Amino acid sequence: MNIAKKTVLITGANRGIGLALVNEALRRGAKRVYAGTRGALENADKRVTPLTLDVTSVSQIRRAADEIGALDVLINNAGIALYDDLSDSEVLERSLAVNLFGPFNVTRAFLPLLKRSKGAIVNNLSLAALAPLPIIPAYSISKAAAFNMTQSLRAFLAGHGVTVHAVFLGPIDTDMTRGFEIPKASPESAAIGVFDGLEKGEEDIFPDPASRSVADGWRTGVAKALEREFAAFAPESAANPE
Ligand SMILES: NC(=O)c1ccc[n+]([C@@H]2O[C@H](COP(=O)([O-])OP(=O)(O)OC[C@H]3O[C@@H](n4cnc5c(N)ncnc54)[C@H](OP(=O)(O)O)[C@@H]3O)[C@@H](O)[C@H]2O)c1
Repeated sequence: MNIAKKTVLITGANRGIGLALVNEALRRGAKRVYAGTRGALENADKRVTPLTLDVTSVSQIRRAADEIGALDVLINNAGIALYDDLSDSEVLERSLAVNLFGPFNVTRAFLPLLKRSKGAIVNNLSLAALAPLPIIPAYSISKAAAFNMTQSLRAFLAGHGVTVHAVFLGPIDTDMTRGFEIPKASPESAAIGVFDGLEKGEEDIFPDPASRSVADGWRTGVAKALEREFAAFAPESAANPE
């Protein structure tokens, strides 16, 4: 999908990759960018509409959905990464609340609009969805679960003309990776990679050098083959919130 003249909603849009996605969507000629944030947001571009949206708040999600009349692309970007060792279930619960139930509830709220536009859902996941990073295991679990959800939604929504994309981000230079001394890509280059992948119609998007190094192996691997095989079992009535 080409982003020009499209209406896009991005969660976690005030900093990091979310902010870079807002700017890249504008650069590519988006008609309207809804910038979902927890705090106040200022953007000089008149095509940006700030939206109060904590993805863990059912009431804020409902209000945001009521405010928006049409939507072509939903980018579930908001996320948290907490250092842990799986000794505290509360860390896992918080990770799941933001990284799994956040995109789950936001997606369900906007699904009627996305079905109408035959739009796209883009879920910002992580290489840690494919293999756990043991310094952030709760995060890894939440991203693996969000990836599995992405795959089910992809199967459910194929018949509705809505495409569902997984973005496997590698290390990107944002607050989230502050103090983690490894090579990182810029958020701006990652945002370009996300929209390039969307334009090419890639269901699994590998937007940075670290993620691109596993792209071919993933696309030709047994897990991808099984996903395609299992997708045939999706009931036609699935993913219908109305
Ligand atoms: N950076 C990386 O290396 C990397 C790698 C793989 C995947 N990712 C994924 O990419 C996405 C963006 O990451 P980032 O690096 O840009 O992180 P970041 O710089 O830490 O920014 C996180 C964003 O998510 C928002 N957020 C957190 N909790 C939220 C909630 N409950 N409701 C709404 N917004 C919330 C934050 O808003 P506040 O400012 O209000 O806190 C902020 O805008 C995340 O899903 C992350 O898991 C990042």
